[in-house]
Amino acid sequence: MVSGSPREGIDLLMTSGPVEVSPRVLKALSQPTTYHYSHGFVELFDETTAKLAQVSRARSKRDVLILQGEAVLGLEASVACTVNPGDKVLVLENGPFGGGFGEYVKNAGGVPVYLRGRTDRALDVDEVRAFLELNRDAVAVTMVHCETPTGVLNPVETICRRAKELGMLTVVDVVASLGGVEFSASEWGVDISISATQKCVGAPPALALMTMSDFAWERVAAKTKPVRNSYLSLLDWRDTWLSSHRFPFTPFTNDVYALNEALSEILEEGLDACIRRHREAGRQCREGVRGLGLELWPLDEKDCSPTVTVFRVPTGRTDAEIIEAIVKAGRILISGGFGPLKGKVLRVGTMGYEARPEFVARTLGALSKALS
Ligand SMILES: Cc1ncc(COP(=O)(O)O)c(C=O)c1O
Repeated sequence: MVSGSPREGIDLLMTSGPVEVSPRVLKALSQPTTYHYSHGFVELFDETTAKLAQVSRARSKRDVLILQGEAVLGLEASVACTVNPGDKVLVLENGPFGGGFGEYVKNAGGVPVYLRGRTDRALDVDEVRAFLELNRDAVAVTMVHCETPTGVLNPVETICRRAKELGMLTVVDVVASLGGVEFSASEWGVDISISATQKCVGAPPALALMTMSDFAWERVAAKTKPVRNSYLSLLDWRDTWLSSHRFPFTPFTNDVYALNEALSEILEEGLDACIRRHREAGRQCREGVRGLGLELWPLDEKDCSPTVTVFRVPTGRTDAEIIEAIVKAGRILISGGFGPLKGKVLRVGTMGYEARPEFVARTLGALSKALS
């Protein structure tokens, strides 16, 4: 790394996002910038939507959107474009990002009704079922697949299937799971999914990756005051890209190169194989962390996401001190805690390029030195 660069002293990111990006994706990113209405770029954007549809297991490229902005743009847009004032929306919260949906609901004039679970456990399916039953008049339900701050993976497939039986719009944050954990937008009853480039997909932070079902578009159309002429507008995207391969504004051309390459890497490896690699890296990381006498944040192994390992800061040490010692011992950076868990936990990402046995082993070696 160049001296004075933001990566000085760090050879490897094992963070929870943004994550280490492969040399191949970095090379794609640095190709010459092009004019967005050149034939080549429009074709590349189209090809990228087709690849994203495959990785999201959406029905087709017509069911995906690539927005110019990171995940929060997609999360906000999903609610702003579908929730009417006075709408009751169920918010499943067992971590900071789950709860975040409630704020977007309030911004849209909707009424969030929360089911609050423990941050160290996955959402309980029976409890969620009962909650949905009790609130059949709700128009939508929001949830997070992998809560990156806690390392917990939620059973969104079961929840979405039940919510669909009750006619609710299902909105799922798959930011820290898409490409690294089994997920199917089309088969699980997910109306809107939102992901991002900088986690398991393995590109730099830049774009929000969404899937939209027909029902989701119906709900967008049913907005009493549709969101238009706005960065948040999904309709603007439908009426430009989906209708006539135009863009509502200038797309981030180089980030589309990077995303396209990152999706190619996943598809060339094979989506199933890529998911298996994440599963194995997560298992290796958790086993190593426990082997060092550390305590995982999730109480039950079955609730752990393979994409991020979250463990408690050992008594008598601080998070900052351990992060620094890992940098010194191995030139590797891991993440500290986020939100209410700041100072309490440390996080090792195994997402995208990071999810490799040799990188996990190096990280565990550096962690071991840092602890001793
Ligand atoms: C689960 C989850 N949702 C949403 C976000 C927000 O993503 P972004 O920072 O790209 O807007 C993050 C970021 O870490 C996340 O982990």
